[in-house]
Amino acid sequence: MHPDPAVLFVCLGNICRSPLAEAAFRAEAERQGLQAIVDSAGMGGWHAGEPPDPRAQTVARAHGVEIGHLRARQVTAADFHQFSHVIALDGSNLRDLRRLRPGQARASLSLLLDHVPGRGGEDVADPYYGSAEGFEVTWAEVRAGAAGLVRALLSPA
Ligand code: 4NP
Repeated sequence: MHPDPAVLFVCLGNICRSPLAEAAFRAEAERQGLQAIVDSAGMGGWHAGEPPDPRAQTVARAHGVEIGHLRARQVTAADFHQFSHVIALDGSNLRDLRRLRPGQARASLSLLLDHVPGRGGEDVADPYYGSAEGFEVTWAEVRAGAAGLVRALLSPA
């Protein structure tokens, strides 16, 4: 079990949105002075072992963050015990995570954009089948979500 807070970002493939969320959160945690364990995973295992999508690597690099060393993995039931916060990138991921979460689990579940004022309940759009501009939108969304989540973890209600 990781020390608190331990944050796991989950999307479908773990090669586009959740690695970007992981990287944005790590950068934001450092900026705001939060110590946290950070990881990401996918609902599916199709891309397990692969680095992030080249378009995700490009957008991260354009914003000063390297993600080429990350490797995709599939979320497991043990993750709900290891992590204090499991953060879904979209509503479909959230529904699937609720089904997978063991009854006694430690992790709280939420949507990333629940942590952005005025955007609660919204999805981070899946850029996989779109264009490079889609990845800029994704970056802006995960950065806003990461900033809000770090703030919330630094000043719990
Ligand atoms: P991600 O994007 O969930 O943001 O990593 C996707 C990556 C791969 C697939 C779908 C979405 N796929 O179908 O393989």
